[in-house]
Amino acid sequence: MFFLLLPLLVLAVDAQQPLPLNSINTFTTSTSLFGLPASSQLTVSVAICVSEASSARFFLSNSPSVVPAPGGGADVFEIQLTDGSGQWSGSAPSGGLLSVQDLQQGSFQIFVSDNGTTYQVLDQLPLLGDTTSNQTILFSHPFLPMPIAQPTFPNYTLPPANLAAPDIPSSIPNFTLVIAPASAQLSSLPQTACALLNAPSTGSIVGNDPWLRSSEGWRSQWLVDGLSPSTNYTAYVIQDALKVSGPIYFATKSGNFQCPLVYSLPYCPSTAYAVPLPPLPSRTFGYNATSLPDSITLPLLQYMTNFTTMLTTFACGRDLYSPLQTCADCQTHYRTWLCSISFPRCSEPAPGNNGTAASSSSLGTAAQVPLSALQPQPSGSLSRSPNFPNATYDYSSLLPCLETCNAVDRACPYFLGIKCPTTKFNAAESYGVGFIDSGNDDEIGNGITGLAQDRWGNVWCNGN
Ligand SMILES: *[C@@H]1O[C@H](CO)[C@@H](O)[C@H](O)[C@H]1NC(C)=O
Ligand SMILES: *[C@@H]1O[C@H](CO)[C@@H](O)[C@H](O)[C@H]1NC(C)=O
Ligand SMILES: *[C@@H]1O[C@H](CO)[C@@H](O)[C@H](O)[C@H]1NC(C)=O
Ligand SMILES: *[C@@H]1O[C@H](CO)[C@@H](O)[C@H](O)[C@H]1NC(C)=O
Ligand SMILES: *[C@@H]1O[C@H](CO)[C@@H](O)[C@H](O)[C@H]1NC(C)=O
Ligand SMILES: *[C@@H]1O[C@H](CO)[C@@H](O)[C@H](O)[C@H]1NC(C)=O
Ligand SMILES: *[C@@H]1O[C@H](CO)[C@@H](O)[C@H](O)[C@H]1NC(C)=O
Ligand SMILES: *[C@@H]1O[C@H](CO)[C@@H](O)[C@H](O)[C@H]1NC(C)=O
Ligand SMILES: *[C@@H]1O[C@H](CO)[C@@H](O)[C@H](O)[C@H]1NC(C)=O
Repeated sequence: MFFLLLPLLVLAVDAQQPLPLNSINTFTTSTSLFGLPASSQLTVSVAICVSEASSARFFLSNSPSVVPAPGGGADVFEIQLTDGSGQWSGSAPSGGLLSVQDLQQGSFQIFVSDNGTTYQVLDQLPLLGDTTSNQTILFSHPFLPMPIAQPTFPNYTLPPANLAAPDIPSSIPNFTLVIAPASAQLSSLPQTACALLNAPSTGSIVGNDPWLRSSEGWRSQWLVDGLSPSTNYTAYVIQDALKVSGPIYFATKSGNFQCPLVYSLPYCPSTAYAVPLPPLPSRTFGYNATSLPDSITLPLLQYMTNFTTMLTTFACGRDLYSPLQTCADCQTHYRTWLCSISFPRCSEPAPGNNGTAASSSSLGTAAQVPLSALQPQPSGSLSRSPNFPNATYDYSSLLPCLETCNAVDRACPYFLGIKCPTTKFNAAESYGVGFIDSGNDDEIGNGITGLAQDRWGNVWCNGN
């Protein structure tokens, strides 16, 4: 036995293909034994790139002289795959070997790392900004958190109303957006970067930039054109060809949806949705800081300036009005609220969700799916926002979530006299009520949906 086995083993070890650290290696059937570099902290992760490769089994040994195979003993580990990828971490002081068995067809990838980087499905999801009939704005998960800057006394200076575009971070992950109609069933592929990057992606990306959307941090923003009306889509964001974020689902609006998108406003960084403004010339993606009329921008900036002036009559940073909140927090929440009421949002009932104006009674019905906080705005009706033109076409407005107002109330000093409407007194006429927090005043949490929008494309109220 030994006579026979030993030369075979040596032969096999000789035939190994070395795997370099920290680079993506793609293989098809031919090679099946790989050499692993020595490291006290080795992470080996594998990903299959097509469903046909799912028969493959991956065995690893952290000793360069033990050929890994099924039932191989103490130093042999099998890497189990979940949704198409799997990993092993441990010590391999003198290197190791990886073997691939039972691969019938298709390709797979191996990534060997000494700092814990692996193929993985991230918990954090991409974020839908909004859609029109043939466009969408999508964001990656935040990749660099940017908490609200807290100035200190005696130089307690708050950001100006017209925020300067912040400096772009020096290191940005390589993000790739993948979109396909729901009919392409991306979610039935292996949920791996290589499988999703190989899938055909629809839509044309007309803009992609890092964007500091909120204190959650920097995200990558995509402006996508060329989609089809009333169609369900699936989207993923792939980071560095290794990490998968998603899927999220969204639907484009119907063909008669006319509201254009507003995006990339430094003074309203989280505004990225459809608004009831006049249509733009085709080839223009939407309204941004350059094209928005001054009649909308200037009053908004003036409200923001006046509010900041009033706020700073308080000895911000010296005296405290709350153990939890600061003037900077107050200003940030006020900006979010001001932007959400200054830019009315257009929407449509989701397919299968016949929206009406939210009221506590419509929310409380036995319907399985709650109705979005939509209010019909027939053509010619008076605009809800004083600086907006009156409607020149029919649309439905999606009301701001009441929580955007309550957040200002909670974060700001009492002397500013901020008062949000209460459920008892008609809050539902101007806000989406009961989605995030329960409709009962002063009760945080326990709303019917718990959020303004979900990964399935439902948007209950405008939470931006
Ligand atoms: C791991 O190393 C790679 C290559 O040197 C680097 O790009 C990556 O940022 C590192 N990752 C972590 C989590 O340190
Ligand atoms: C006060 O803070 C602002 C913003 O941080 C800074 O631009 C300014 O130079 C500071 N002024 C003084 C006098 O330190
Ligand atoms: C997208 O839809 C708008 C409004 O329905 C239309 O004017 C425009 O031509 C469409 N764009 C493309 C590329 O189909
Ligand atoms: C899109 O998805 C919704 C909800 O899942 C469903 O009700 C609707 O029929 C789908 N529409 C199309 C065109 O497939
Ligand atoms: C980013 O990732 C994509 C998809 O893997 C790849 O095609 C592209 O070359 C990468 N770009 C850079 C700058 O690394
Ligand atoms: C704003 O829109 C104009 C016209 O569509 C475009 O040329 C410009 O690049 C956009 N600016 C930003 C910052 O996106
Ligand atoms: C802001 O304050 C100025 C000066 O007090 C005042 O003239 C103006 O009307 C105020 N603007 C708004 C929008 O409240
Ligand atoms: C929504 O439902 C109501 C009552 O069930 C019905 O009268 C109305 O036509 C529906 N609207 C749409 C847009 O389907
Ligand atoms: C909107 O309509 C109202 C009533 O019809 C009118 O008084 C007002 O001037 C209009 N506003 C604009 C900006 O056109």
